[in-house]
Amino acid sequence: MRQKEITSLLNDMSLEEKIGQLVQLSGEFFSANDISLGPIQKLGISQQIVNLAGSALNVVGARVTREVQKKQMQMQPHHIPMLFMSDIIYGYKTILPIPLGLGATWDLDKVEKAFSNAAAEAAAAGNHVAFAPMVDVARDARWGRILESPGEDPFLNAKFAQFMVNGLQKNISNKCGQIACVKHFAAYGAVEGGKEYNSVDLSLSNLYQNYLPPYKAAVKAGCGMVMTSLTSLNGVPVTANKELLTDILRKKWGFTGIVISDYASIYELIKHGFVSDEVQAGKAALEAGVDIDMKSPCYANGLKDLVTDGRLDENKINQAVLRILNLKNKLGLFEDPFFGASEEKENECILTVEKRGLARQLSEEAIVLLKNKNNILPLKQDQNIALIGPYAKKGTLIGMWAIHGSTADTVTISEGLKKYIPNLKVCSGTDLQRDRKLLDNLGFLSKEDIAKNIASEDEELKNNQEALKVAASSDIVIMAMGEETYEDGEASSKTDLRLAQNQRNLIDQIAKLGKKIILVLINGRPLVLSDVADKVDAIVEAWFPGTEGGNAIANVIFGKYNPSGRLTVDFPYASGAEPLYYNHLATGRPENGSQHIGRFVSKYIDCPQGALYPFGFGLSYGKVKYNSMELSASRITVSDQLKVTVNLENQSDFTINETVQLYIHDEVASVVQPVKRLIDFKKVELKPRKLVKVIFKVTSNQLTFFDNHGNEKIEPGRFAIMAGPNSRDLISKEIDLIG
Ligand code: BGC
Repeated sequence: MRQKEITSLLNDMSLEEKIGQLVQLSGEFFSANDISLGPIQKLGISQQIVNLAGSALNVVGARVTREVQKKQMQMQPHHIPMLFMSDIIYGYKTILPIPLGLGATWDLDKVEKAFSNAAAEAAAAGNHVAFAPMVDVARDARWGRILESPGEDPFLNAKFAQFMVNGLQKNISNKCGQIACVKHFAAYGAVEGGKEYNSVDLSLSNLYQNYLPPYKAAVKAGCGMVMTSLTSLNGVPVTANKELLTDILRKKWGFTGIVISDYASIYELIKHGFVSDEVQAGKAALEAGVDIDMKSPCYANGLKDLVTDGRLDENKINQAVLRILNLKNKLGLFEDPFFGASEEKENECILTVEKRGLARQLSEEAIVLLKNKNNILPLKQDQNIALIGPYAKKGTLIGMWAIHGSTADTVTISEGLKKYIPNLKVCSGTDLQRDRKLLDNLGFLSKEDIAKNIASEDEELKNNQEALKVAASSDIVIMAMGEETYEDGEASSKTDLRLAQNQRNLIDQIAKLGKKIILVLINGRPLVLSDVADKVDAIVEAWFPGTEGGNAIANVIFGKYNPSGRLTVDFPYASGAEPLYYNHLATGRPENGSQHIGRFVSKYIDCPQGALYPFGFGLSYGKVKYNSMELSASRITVSDQLKVTVNLENQSDFTINETVQLYIHDEVASVVQPVKRLIDFKKVELKPRKLVKVIFKVTSNQLTFFDNHGNEKIEPGRFAIMAGPNSRDLISKEIDLIG
């Protein structure tokens, strides 16, 4: 359609029709599948509004979307097609590693390609908008949704935001792409205490410097939609936060796309105590800048009276509807309401060998080798090996938010390893989680479900004994442990980040047999490994590795792939050390370098400081030495470019994929600065025994910071430039920025 036709369509629509466009409902309203998550509200909206609804949530599959589209268009006076939107956060059917694992790849190009694959699969199934990327900076491992984010670093999350948006959107014109909806704007990751749905309270410099950059990068990359956060920020619920949704997003950043609320978050303005009823909630959200109301009755029931009584300017509604019609037009839905989706296309496009191949590569790259005592890994096929642990045969390697993925399509760890050792000894040894109280607290498992998840005491004993017997007859035990899928993701905040007690017991028992242990971890957050790290010989952090997880783990363990993953989150020594992040602000009494000694410095007295495994950390087979760093100058002006040369040496016979990381510290500034922060990185392949020079170019726009009014500033003075393999082990030199 031409813009003129869109405008005349808008002019011809009744107020009810226009309001319908702003309403998003889930499957059950259209007699379709309902796989939406979150509290299901009895919405109490009229059938007329249902018939006029402009978009649907998590209704997927070519057959279903075609059916719903057809029915819905028939009912609408202007036969306007619907938008189908869904959570496609790390793959549609071909499931990638969780975003925290994708972060650990530091491989932006491959992630972009994989996101375009996911978009192609979803488009074939008739979906138009992916509720992704999720790029909330997440600094607290207690927060279950840390799984959905690439990690704790603003610079890295911003890069992933850009490449993920590009991947999703690049093939829209040939109906193989998705509109990206970046979420959750803004700063959801900073919920107090890591507790789900809790409040967020941040200084403006912290907000601008650490939390806003990823969303801004997504907007800059052209993402079509933005989703609000469920939380409040500095006392104002984000869904009614005009400063964020209009002043920053639209006016400062120039965003012209659609803003959607999160699930029921307009209605929840009442629960926040920000407004008193649904009508006020609708008014506050629309006026703040929210175009679509996801799964709440507020727009559906409230907007009409507000306009008729003159309490709301209809023009506000018109603007929102125009943005929605424009998006439908951009997708070509007025000409082809099915977006080219068909079951044939699904069959051709979904879970292809090529897509699985890329997923496997990313699962390999996501794996972080945390420990490798005496180079026990890689293993050899002729060693006497057993696989023990509750994850040995599970297909739940796809994790919690892979709502369209299937465990049946997933390669288990046992299947992967058996490609190397066909008669591998395998047993589970224990449950994943025997903590009945925790399962109860989840709030959605019935007594029967819990019983299915927990073996009886007798069975547990039998399983343990079998495991010990198998271990006793082996030299090396691969132990596949971790978290249940429902321990991570939305509404899964935890205070204890250790492996479940029963898993730790089994590790203890097998360690006591004197066996070599390779601990393979399947989990969605940084874990506390302090009490198991010394009992095992190697730790392979595999996250929820996705559809190809079992193959990737096997390839790493047997050395077909040399691990290259580097953490994008800190692994703490103790749960009480959270939130933990490497780029914390400098304090007046740092642990090292304070005038005080011993007690009166910033530290916990009952656990080591910093991280057990810090941001950026990961081992490979073989060793890279950082020999030196050269700077092209010791003084620069704001218009100069600084050349940083890092000299590396591969001291091994392995080819190593190294992620060279560049950090800075602004030593004196009018707002206290982080002790270090990442400003760039490069992934390089180092051939055996070779010397390599890695060059970075630093310009003054990488040295800026935000003040407490949200202004970006640069101040002359001394900066430390640091390079290394992780955020802890760095070579450092100083420069002066002169004014
Ligand atoms: C989540 C969003 C998700 C939405 C739709 C909400 O509960 O917070 O991330 O996109 O549900 O499924």
